Parts: sequence; structure tokens; C-alpha cells
Amino acid sequence: MPRKAKIVEIPAIGELDRPAGQLSLQLAKALKKAIQRGELKSGDLLPSTRTLSAALKLARGTVIEAFEQLTAEGFFDAVRGSGTRVAVQLPAGEIHQPDSESRDKNDAPPLSAQAERYAHAASRITTLQPVPFAVSVPAGPTLPDDIWRRIGNRIRAKGPGAPSGYHIPAGALPLREAIAEYVRKSRSVHCSAQQVIVTAGTQQGLYLSTQVLLDSADKAWVEDPAYHGITSIFESTGRSTQMIRVPLDEEGLDVNRGIELFAAAKAAFVTPSHQYPVGMPMSMSRRLALIDWSKAQQSWIVEDDYDSELRYEGHPFPSLQGLAPERVVYLGTFSKILFPSLRIGYVVVPEKLVDAYCGARMLIDRHAPIADQYVLAAFMEEGHLDRHIRRMRSVYAEKRAVMITAIRQFFEPELAWLQPGDQGMHMVLWLNPALDDKKVVNHAIAAGISVRAVSPMFSPHLARPGLILGLGGFSDQQIIAAVIKLAEVIRQQLRKIND
Ligand SMILES: Cc1ncc(COP(=O)(O)O)c(C=O)c1O
Repeated sequence: MPRKAKIVEIPAIGELDRPAGQLSLQLAKALKKAIQRGELKSGDLLPSTRTLSAALKLARGTVIEAFEQLTAEGFFDAVRGSGTRVAVQLPAGEIHQPDSESRDKNDAPPLSAQAERYAHAASRITTLQPVPFAVSVPAGPTLPDDIWRRIGNRIRAKGPGAPSGYHIPAGALPLREAIAEYVRKSRSVHCSAQQVIVTAGTQQGLYLSTQVLLDSADKAWVEDPAYHGITSIFESTGRSTQMIRVPLDEEGLDVNRGIELFAAAKAAFVTPSHQYPVGMPMSMSRRLALIDWSKAQQSWIVEDDYDSELRYEGHPFPSLQGLAPERVVYLGTFSKILFPSLRIGYVVVPEKLVDAYCGARMLIDRHAPIADQYVLAAFMEEGHLDRHIRRMRSVYAEKRAVMITAIRQFFEPELAWLQPGDQGMHMVLWLNPALDDKKVVNHAIAAGISVRAVSPMFSPHLARPGLILGLGGFSDQQIIAAVIKLAEVIRQQLRKIND
């Protein structure tokens, strides 16, 4: 039997009725009840009779008597040398019924409208199985597991990342310094470490930004289509009417259209390096137009720069933040370049916003766990991140080429076609307009392929069917086999429509 921690307290015993006497019988009954209610489970190691008698302030003989009785009845197993456990085979009819199963769920109070909205968000933002073409599955050969483990062991054993007291909300200074240097060099972001706030990923940066930048009557521009993670924040926090969806053209967010729709928005949420989901970068003239608008309106720009490290051809645009550091909130993440379960990202905020973001952060969870922040800081300072990104770029470029070739080979042009692009960890496969991408997703999942539908990322009147295909984590053979299978799934769907 696997080792189990000893139970040191058994609250279910409750108060014994001392004046009523027969304490060993009362104790045996209370323990039996705890087993029947599932509070003590088969195999649980009980406290020693000495510990229990001291805790209950009973004579040890009384406790021994109760234990002996339960052992005789088959509720306890006394194992020489390793104490007493709740029996693995309980007497028939005594198997526990968890309370939760017998309770009527309708007894619980009704859900608030807010709870309903959060529950809806949970059903929309799901984690896909790590099979082709799930996004953000790190590619095995590029994973820096050994280095990460080595630095982690070193820092957790001795370093400042070992458990300590509360920290400031902005996060560990060495990491903030490393991030400030990294974004300055790689993305032309203008900032000091004081402007960097470590977050639990970009998702939290988006959430913080909606909380901090917008009063309840303010409106914000959000791209159309956009990442579910931002639209769902507005929708699930009762702010749907604050969201002005602004369409794209081939240069990215259509600023003139945004001005026509609602010029006085207080913020614009954009993905200028690699529009999510479609993939185009925002042109320089569009960037300048967006900044001009934000100056004229005294509005903020929130730049979600989620995967700009992975550019395969040409020269990357510098960040929007570098063009207007006083009005752009820059969001970065290690989810794409390292691994999503790390849950470390950052916001770089104009100085004026530092206190507000720190305050909001404090109210959510005080600060991100600190130990891994020191590990990441050392990983960056020792040059591992730069090396890792270089390696990743070449591995992902190869995977991307395999995927493009396979799609060209196995898809008829009227079935589906790829959105051109040269960046990132995913591609968009547009589907024949007759198809329903949500249905295709369900059939693909049934066939063992993880894809996401693009149409729900649009506002309904602009929706087009498409699929998001992630690049990472899969061998060339897996990618080719999944492309063939996906083509067949889509072909079948189209046949059904045409028949
Ligand atoms: C556009 C975009 N923004 C933000 C995120 C969230 O990233 P994180 O894991 O850092 O919360 C993602 C994740 O896929 C994304 O695609």
C-alpha cells in the first residue's frame, strides 16, 4: 500500500458526552460514523492511541478499547509495527457515500448573473489535448528542461527564491531587470525595471488593464476578430457594452473605422506584431495613425506582444511601445517561448500607471509566486533564453515548412487555404465559406486532432469559418498524418453539405 500521511486530527469525532460515560463506546461510534461519512477513508493511517488519548484528554486504555472494538468489527486493520489504519476492505454496507453525492445540488443558492458569466467563460476557454494542432505545446527538442531543473535546484536550495515572506506586487527585481533589458534589446521597448510588473501571464495583464484603464462608462477598441482571452474579459465582467469591435484590413486594425465607430474610446487593445488570430503585422503607417488617435483622444494603447520572438523571415517591426512609451502598456509572456504552465508574463507600464497596476495586482493575488521568478531571472542572465529562442526559431521554421507543404499537397484549393504569414506559433486555415468551423472542430476532435474555430473570434456579422493550427510540439510524421486526417474530416463535412 502506498505510504499515506498520518491523520493527526479527526474533527468528526466531535464532542464526547463525558458525563454520559461509556467513553470507549462513544469514541468507537464516532469513528465509525466518520468512516461511513467518508471523512476517514480506507487505508488512512490513524493517530497512535497515545496521541489520540492526549488530544481527546481520555485515558489511553479507553482509546485502545475503542480501537480494539473497531478492529474486531472489521473497520480497522492493526498492522504490527506500522500502526492502525482504516480497513482496506470495509464490512459490507459500510462503504462510504460521499456527502456531496447524497446532497441535492438544487439546495445551493441560485447563481448570480456574474457567476453565470464566469461559468460561460470557463466553457469557452478550454485547454486542448496536446495532439496536433494544439497551440502552445512546446516542441520537445527545444525544451530547456535540464538547464531549467539545474538552475531551479540551485536557487531553491539556497538562493533568494527559497520560501520567504510576502513580496512587493511588481515581482522579483532581478527578473524585472532582466525583462527590461530583454525587451529593450529585442523589441525596442523603452523602460526601466521600475516599470516592469511581473504577472501570471498575459491573460492577467489583459485583465489588469481592463480594471485599471477603464472606468465603468468608458469604451475600448478591441480588434475584430480578437483573442477570446480579451473579449471574454469584457463579456464576463459585465462590460460587453464597453467593447467597440474594430475590423481589420490587410494592414491590421482599421483606425479610421475605429474613429467612425467611437472616436472617444479610452483604450485600444491590439496585437500589432502578429494580429491574433489572423496573423498580419500592423503596418507602420497604421501604427502611427493609432498613436495619433491616442494622442488626440488622450487614450491608452494596450499592446499584446504574445509571440513576436518567432519571426521567420524579414526584419521584425519594433514594438509600438517604443514609438509612444508614455501611452502604451506593453504585455509580454514566457508562455510561448518557454512553456505556458510557467504562468509568468509581464506588463511594462508608463510611469504614471505603476502604482495603479501594483494596487490592482495586490488585490488579485498580491504577487506571482517568487521562486520561479528567480529561476527565470538566472535563466535570462546566463544567456539561456537567447540561445533557446534562436534554437526554437529554427525548429519552428522547419515545422512550419512541413505543415505548409503538407497542406498544399493534401487539401484541394476549394476545401481550405492558409492565411499567408511569416511569424508565430500558429497559422490560420480558412475554410470553404459553406462550412461551419465549430462543427469541423468537433469532428476533428473526435478524430484525435486539436483545432480551434476562428469564427467565434469575430463579431457575428463579420464571422468567417477557419481553424487555428498550432505548430509546436509535434513530429513531422505527426503533422503530416494529422493534415491528411484533417483534410478528410473537412472533405466529409463539405460532402454532407453538397449531398
Ligand atoms: C493573443 C494572445 N494573448 C495572450 C495570450 C495569453 O498568454 P498567457 O499564457 O501569457 O496568459 C495568448 C495565449 O495563447 C494569446 O494567443
